[in-house]
Amino acid sequence: MSVKIIGTGSALPEKIVTNQDLAQMVETSDEWIRERTGIGSRHISTGETVVSLAARACEKALENAGREAAEVELLLVATCTPEQGIPCAACQVQNLLGATGAAAFDLNAACAGFLFALHTACAYIQSGIYSNALIVGSEVLSKIIDWSDRSTCVLFGDGAGAVLVERAEKPGILGFAQHSDGSRGGVLRCDGRELRNPYVSVPARSPYVQMDGREVFAFAVRQIPACISEVLGQTGIAPDEVDLYVLHQANRRIIEGIAKRLTVEMDRFPTNLERVGNMSSAAIPVLLDELNREGRLREGMTLVLSGFGAGLTYGACTVRW
Ligand code: ACO
Repeated sequence: MSVKIIGTGSALPEKIVTNQDLAQMVETSDEWIRERTGIGSRHISTGETVVSLAARACEKALENAGREAAEVELLLVATCTPEQGIPCAACQVQNLLGATGAAAFDLNAACAGFLFALHTACAYIQSGIYSNALIVGSEVLSKIIDWSDRSTCVLFGDGAGAVLVERAEKPGILGFAQHSDGSRGGVLRCDGRELRNPYVSVPARSPYVQMDGREVFAFAVRQIPACISEVLGQTGIAPDEVDLYVLHQANRRIIEGIAKRLTVEMDRFPTNLERVGNMSSAAIPVLLDELNREGRLREGMTLVLSGFGAGLTYGACTVRW
């Protein structure tokens, strides 16, 4: 029995913020941002939430798959920027969609969150518990960014991407790998609420993303080729037999570094980060949806999806489209 992606969808906020716009806020330039990251603009929420973006992406994925919300059995939202602690975003998305039969919960593995959620759904389906799952990566990162910090505010964007997966006879997801290294969590962090109760009051902490960019860069370029090799090794597929590598869109230079280590040409690594920046857990499903709607995914193609981010977390899966 296999698990197949049968529909994709995505949603981006209307407002586009260019590098030139950012150069009005902090000391930076279009040239610096493009050269170091490959990013030219990003979509930023002026009111849309993780829940509203997720619901829009899910509606499109359901429509693309020709399925009704009421048929969904499992609904997973991958996010590290939920509006509320409780209820979870997935329950709110379930309510907006009318996916009344779905068990719904959130999962946070930062930029690898969508992949970890996809793998979780696969495990549920392969064990026979559910026959389908709607998985969405949704982020409003703009609310956890310090807009006066030029080293981070230029990198991120808001958005959501979703896929519907279903139990299938034909091959779909061929294998996956996922890893975490909590010992290095400090290189990319965003603190939550501090401990405050009648017995203790801890001083307030920064509510914004803090990052050691060079460490993140080195981690991604070192670990991701190894993780991709691991997942390809499960099915004996060679790196140059993969049609498309749909990678987390953090930084063009990271993707180039990964391509070089795998000795695969960059034309197998589609990117959209020039237009959308780094959308954390939304990055992979948004790119997948764009490729799908552009008609670039043909039946039988072999894809590798791979994500990496805070935690540190990273993973990859091989997909027969
Ligand atoms: N504009 C102009 N100058 C800047 C900017 C900016 N936006 N940001 C930093 N600088 C300056 C720094 O202040 C520094 O100046 P100094 O030499 O006077 O001190 C100089 O540029 C070099 O700074 P570095 O941080 O060393 O720059 P680096 O070449 O490492 O590039 C970057 C920074 C782009 C963040 C890089 O480290 C990177 O791509 N890291 C990967 C991190 C990443 O992609 N994170 C995304 C989130 S994690 C994820 O999704 C996996």
